[in-house]
Amino acid sequence: MTEHDLQKRQSIIDACRRMNALSINQGTSGNISVRHEDGMLVTPTSMPYDVMQPDDIVFMSMDGEAHGKRQPSSEWRFHLDILRARADVTAVVHAHPVYCTSLSILERPIPPIHYMVAVAGGSDIRCAPYATFGTEELSANALAALEGRKACLLAHHGMIATGTSLDSAMWLAVEVETLARQYLTCLQVQEPPLLSVDEIGNVIARMSNYGHRD
Ligand code: 13P
Repeated sequence: MTEHDLQKRQSIIDACRRMNALSINQGTSGNISVRHEDGMLVTPTSMPYDVMQPDDIVFMSMDGEAHGKRQPSSEWRFHLDILRARADVTAVVHAHPVYCTSLSILERPIPPIHYMVAVAGGSDIRCAPYATFGTEELSANALAALEGRKACLLAHHGMIATGTSLDSAMWLAVEVETLARQYLTCLQVQEPPLLSVDEIGNVIARMSNYGHRD
């Protein structure tokens, strides 16, 4: 393993630990992938992050063949399908954050409640219809919900955030969880008023010249 490979694998483990420290995930229910050579590096299934070592990270070629001493995440399929379909994506973070997951249980997308919804790429953050974990159907549903977006919820399951780097995917995961929390807090009082699709378009244009670049 080259020094570069080692660092990349370690950065995935560090991000997994950060997910739990930031309370956007619990236990080993999340998984992370990063584009690597002609495939991806992905977390192993069901392995506690505090014992995970760089050689536990699995390399998968783009045709879905796993190389390594561990089994890849049970969600490897949507990780691979997203990286295959989306040239703009370098890293995929999947987690079960409490507020995102609560909205996903209600099968509700996040509408334009706040201008920061725009950081996910459009005027809402969609909720993909439910399908069993690890299935092609879940992967297809996730890809459709991510069309023109960088993040989505997965009904009765959790969320996916993507980025042009692992840091940007992690940043977005935290941001989407914050929006979900704000939305659920508002819903305790009433359905919140929404920003218009046009205004989210203005925000996206403004962000491209400001600090919120991916
Ligand atoms: P893994 O431990 O297999 O990555 O799966 C957890 C999970 O998120 C299932 O949706």
